Amino acid sequence: MTLRARLKPGETLGDRVMKVDHAGEHGAICIYRAQRWFARWRAPDMVPELGHFLAHERGHRALFGAELARRGQRRCRSYFWCGLGGFVLGAVTGLGGRQAIAATTVAIERVVLRHMHEQLQALSGRDQAAAGTLRQIIVEEQEHHDLSRVRLASHGLWPRILDPVVGASSHAVIWLGMRL
Ligand SMILES: [Fe+2]
Ligand SMILES: [Fe+2]
Repeated sequence: MTLRARLKPGETLGDRVMKVDHAGEHGAICIYRAQRWFARWRAPDMVPELGHFLAHERGHRALFGAELARRGQRRCRSYFWCGLGGFVLGAVTGLGGRQAIAATTVAIERVVLRHMHEQLQALSGRDQAAAGTLRQIIVEEQEHHDLSRVRLASHGLWPRILDPVVGASSHAVIWLGMRL
């Protein structure tokens, strides 16, 4: 699959990917912050794991942010909205409890990993700095997916609700970010 984007004058494909992913990581931070807050009440045993994921997401945002600064590029216009959307999603699913929290991570990471692998493929040999950043981050996103996947009950209600909705929303945010 080829990676499609509508680039601005003077912007490279790597620049755009760093912008979109930087905004996405900000969204992830807001999700985990809200979930961790509600998990203290709804799923206390998940608090350390959510803190672990949150620390990773902060690192990811910093890595993409450093790449943007090095390139003299500004943050994505979707940055604020990713944060707000992430916070609302994190609050709703945090209130839902452990299955809702795990189902959210699985749904998002499934889509994020697919996009990041596609981005990596498109940028390998073309933008080594962007590709290197992606390679570093993919390992941790896979860990978030796998640890949350084992927490999910096989016939739970939350994955059936969240998987299509959250999956499609994550895809739409990335799709729009690459084109607007
Ligand atoms: Fe991340
Ligand atoms: Fe993640």
